[in-house]
Amino acid sequence: MKFLKAIITKINLGLAIAALLPSSLLGAEALQATISIAADKPRTAVSPTLYGVFYEDINYAADGGLYAEMVQNRSFEYHTDDKRAKKASALPPLRAWTPVERKSMTCRVATATAQPLNERNPTYVTLTLAGKGEAGVANTGYHGGIPVKAGAIYDFSLYARRGRGATAPLTVAIETADGTVLAQAILGAPGAAWAKQQTSLTVSRDEPKARLVVTTSAAGSLDLDMVSLFPRDTFKKRKNGLRKDLAEAIAAIHPTTVRFPGGCIVHGNGLANAYRWKDTVGDVATRKPNWSRWGYYQSYGLGYFEYMLFCEDIGASPLPILPCGVSCGFLRPYEVAPEGELAAWIQDCVDLVEFANGPVTSTWGKVRADMGHPAPFNLRFVGIGNEEHDTPKMREYFPRFVAAMRAKCPDIQIVGTSGLGDEIPLFDLMSATGVDITDEHYYKPPQWFIDNRHRFDTVARKAPKIYVGEYASHSNTQLSAVAEAVYLAGIERNSDQVVMTAYAPLLARIEDTQSRKANLIWFDGDRVFKTPSYYVQQLFGSNLGDHYLTNTVVFPDAAVVDGKPPVLAVSPTLASKDGKLFIKVANPMDVPITARVTVQGLSGIQTEAQLTTLAGDKAAVNSLTNPQQIAPVVTTIPAGANFNITVPAMSVQVLQLGVGKS
Ligand code: AHR
Repeated sequence: MKFLKAIITKINLGLAIAALLPSSLLGAEALQATISIAADKPRTAVSPTLYGVFYEDINYAADGGLYAEMVQNRSFEYHTDDKRAKKASALPPLRAWTPVERKSMTCRVATATAQPLNERNPTYVTLTLAGKGEAGVANTGYHGGIPVKAGAIYDFSLYARRGRGATAPLTVAIETADGTVLAQAILGAPGAAWAKQQTSLTVSRDEPKARLVVTTSAAGSLDLDMVSLFPRDTFKKRKNGLRKDLAEAIAAIHPTTVRFPGGCIVHGNGLANAYRWKDTVGDVATRKPNWSRWGYYQSYGLGYFEYMLFCEDIGASPLPILPCGVSCGFLRPYEVAPEGELAAWIQDCVDLVEFANGPVTSTWGKVRADMGHPAPFNLRFVGIGNEEHDTPKMREYFPRFVAAMRAKCPDIQIVGTSGLGDEIPLFDLMSATGVDITDEHYYKPPQWFIDNRHRFDTVARKAPKIYVGEYASHSNTQLSAVAEAVYLAGIERNSDQVVMTAYAPLLARIEDTQSRKANLIWFDGDRVFKTPSYYVQQLFGSNLGDHYLTNTVVFPDAAVVDGKPPVLAVSPTLASKDGKLFIKVANPMDVPITARVTVQGLSGIQTEAQLTTLAGDKAAVNSLTNPQQIAPVVTTIPAGANFNITVPAMSVQVLQLGVGKS
């Protein structure tokens, strides 16, 4: 192997794991190491919220992603007149809608605003029908079609109103592109006032690119709005729910926190485009859709209530991020809320706590209760700001948010922002303002994560605590995953100070991404694959004790790999009440390692351990066609107070070892 220019001690790889791993991973001569774990030496507390996820609506993560709505542009609010929207030309008001004309009936389709469903949902569609036959409108969903499954039930609804004529019932169908009907239902004839109609459709066969078609047979004019189609089988069977496969993939990480809704989407393209949570709650028909600063549209059907419900469903603490009255420093013109309007931005933070935790008799607690959740959501954290630039206005405004929150919501932990990058330009402001936790972000090459594995060893043990709220190594290869594991082992060692982490971005729709090439979970209309980095998140979060144990890793004096000292990241954590010792190891080298592991200071160590290995070629990636190219392999190995492990080249391993409870 070309990296093996080293002086390497050869040893015999006669261990059980060797038989279970591809020979290519064990072919090189192994480095020898010793790992000594001293449970009787000082232990460092591990944060119970260390592993979370960061969910942002980027890469079609919400509409066209986690939000299970299958109709794109259901309320006809897409529009092209926002001069700062990056892809304005791609978002005409009738995006994803086409006329349907059968026999000799014609249909003119146009948007209208004269008599809307409500003022927050100002645009609807008017169909002008002439001749005889059937005509109406079809929606093609996201990225070219609506994927449906044989036997599955889909819940349809719309608001309709009759203009002149148009006295016939409506027909709703799921069809193939060439018009073959896969499911059909007849609705009532619309009345003269807006009214909701709904039905369910059971599809006769699988179709990856179906369309939803609404037609009628009487000439005249007809208004439609909020045309919606959901699979019945959403995550936890929730109405207005989440796409099951994606939600399950996130839940399987077992995150302890969910940071949402962003990211840059929080301060938007400018203040008019910022994410204001009050626009996202209540009946979906009364929510106020918005441009996305990532160049597409936000229906806000997945809004603050749904985010908090999802957190509850997966046992995570919500960590909402609110804008702080200044816009993104990268975009011009830089905007700041006028002095006279800042109070409203601050009040949004205070009111959010009432929405989440307030009694049902309070203004915002009642909104939550009316949405079906009278019990509080137990919000503990509120984040203010995301990667703002270091400007005088930021320094003037930010402390006012903190002061108001401290006065009105003293039980809430405030998460501030250290600014963009590992230089943490706003850390001093966060420190001076007295936030509880401050959030730092970096997207770097794999080697950066390996070289910076000691970043937190020397940080001061004082407030604020640290949240590494967005990070990723620059690709979705096995090398990136291993580099992230090396970095995380360093964070576990310092988890008394670094109390939260989250990889970013979480979701990416294959057909249209705005983020860098690294994302945790990739998907299309009905398929999902998980990256090697995903498995690192899952393994690290699911195998964590409450205390980090002192340990040393020693290689032979002369050992070098590729001209440098060898690297083996090790993190032992103990869950003493559960009687479990977790030992994580990450080997970012092209050389396997055989290590002698010694555990001191623990009784009742079992003689077998469960070993999970994530190994593969450094350039290996998962894909839709090969989703398990890199995936964890679970084995059992001999263990005890002294035992051997073989750590394949470019691998991450997690050992789970039973020990006496204490
Ligand atoms: O993760 C994508 C973007 O990267 C986030 O919105 C932003 O916070 C970061 O710069």
